[in-house]
Amino acid sequence: MSKLVFKNARIVNENQIIEGDLLVDNERIEKIAGNIDLAGAKEIDCKGKMLMPGIVDDQVHFREPGLTYKADVASESAAAIAGGVTSFMEMPNTKPSCLTQELLQDKYDIGANTAHCNYSFFMGASNDNIEEVLKTDPKTVCGVKVFMGSSTGNMLVDSPTTLTNIFSKVDMLIATHCEDEATIRKNTEWYKSTFGEENIDAKEHPYIRNVEGCYLSSSMAADLAKKHDARLHILHISTAKELELFRNDIPLKEKRITSEVCVHHLHFDAEDYIRLGNKVKCNPAIKERYNREALFEALLDDRLDIIATDHAPHTMEEKSNPYFSAPSGLPLIQHTLNVMLGFYQEGKISLEKIIEKMCHAPTDCFGLKERGYLREGYYADLALVDLEEEWTVNKSNILYKCGWSPLEDAKMKGRVTDTYVNGHLVYQNGKVLQQGKGMRLMF
Ligand code: DOR
Repeated sequence: MSKLVFKNARIVNENQIIEGDLLVDNERIEKIAGNIDLAGAKEIDCKGKMLMPGIVDDQVHFREPGLTYKADVASESAAAIAGGVTSFMEMPNTKPSCLTQELLQDKYDIGANTAHCNYSFFMGASNDNIEEVLKTDPKTVCGVKVFMGSSTGNMLVDSPTTLTNIFSKVDMLIATHCEDEATIRKNTEWYKSTFGEENIDAKEHPYIRNVEGCYLSSSMAADLAKKHDARLHILHISTAKELELFRNDIPLKEKRITSEVCVHHLHFDAEDYIRLGNKVKCNPAIKERYNREALFEALLDDRLDIIATDHAPHTMEEKSNPYFSAPSGLPLIQHTLNVMLGFYQEGKISLEKIIEKMCHAPTDCFGLKERGYLREGYYADLALVDLEEEWTVNKSNILYKCGWSPLEDAKMKGRVTDTYVNGHLVYQNGKVLQQGKGMRLMF
């Protein structure tokens, strides 16, 4: 592989924007400077484009093994690179659930054989697999996922003994889905007995999976983490009330409790259930608008640490079922940067902050090695973005295996034109190029 020089780029990185050049030698960034001229290097003209580190997405559901009629690692990681994502961390609610080291290894083998970008897979927890969980290597696995509320895949962990064991014994990042099961059950029963099951639709989702249910579970996770000094990362925060659990008076690297917000909780609000129904049914539910505003504020002031996609594809056939039988989750990985660029264009967030929350902060949060920043010596995971290009999300440009998006017909400004993984051009102008250039993430 020859050397590549990205010329005249608008480099967005580490809280600044500089006009300059970036030199890649094989897999790594060799130099960043105002002007780099090197005989023999291949020049890539980036005039007018933003050059950013590839996005690190810490919460995706790629459905392999077992649910590959919805999605698989190859299809969804192809959609990822089209959206500027160069590293993903995938959840254990596949089929079978990823509850043993052997099953975890199977997933790493799939990643090595088929991923279009860098990969890591969470170890899953259940009420009775603590021995397997404790065998997980924190240097080569992103974390342990605990569903403290039930969602797709029946992986609920609700035994107090197991939760104590996990929080007191696991010596790596514990990522939690927090929704209180008893609250959800009680609300579901009330809605069914009051209105009749057939009369309930997705509009009620924010009130069945409600604010209180989120808070009860998140605050319990935070209490457990404090009690045992565990490293807790609470996924997809969706309510204003939960924000009191997080702080912004210490640097991210010093936090023992960190938080993630997902793009759908920043973009949609409860009223979108009227328009989009089960398409935006997800867990935790999208809540009333005041929550969305509070989440945005907390993202900007660093109580919320990172942005993720929670990319969770289901087929349109499944989503067309009545409310109670339609699965939760929406596909988003290809369009998340675009949604954030929409906020940038509205003047609500800077490019530097988007890069911090989608690239640098996930890296720091997980202790990811040599990625997530444009730094000399780091892996060359890069995205080039034309900030002016206008386009519309439609079936012809959606790469998800499920073939639909809750953002269909949305007009976007800004588009990822090129994505590089470990120095290799893997995506360009709508075309997925090379597979197999991703590596296992190290922590
Ligand atoms: O809405 C969701 N969908 N929330 C989850 O926690 C799981 C995900 C899925 O796997 O479909």
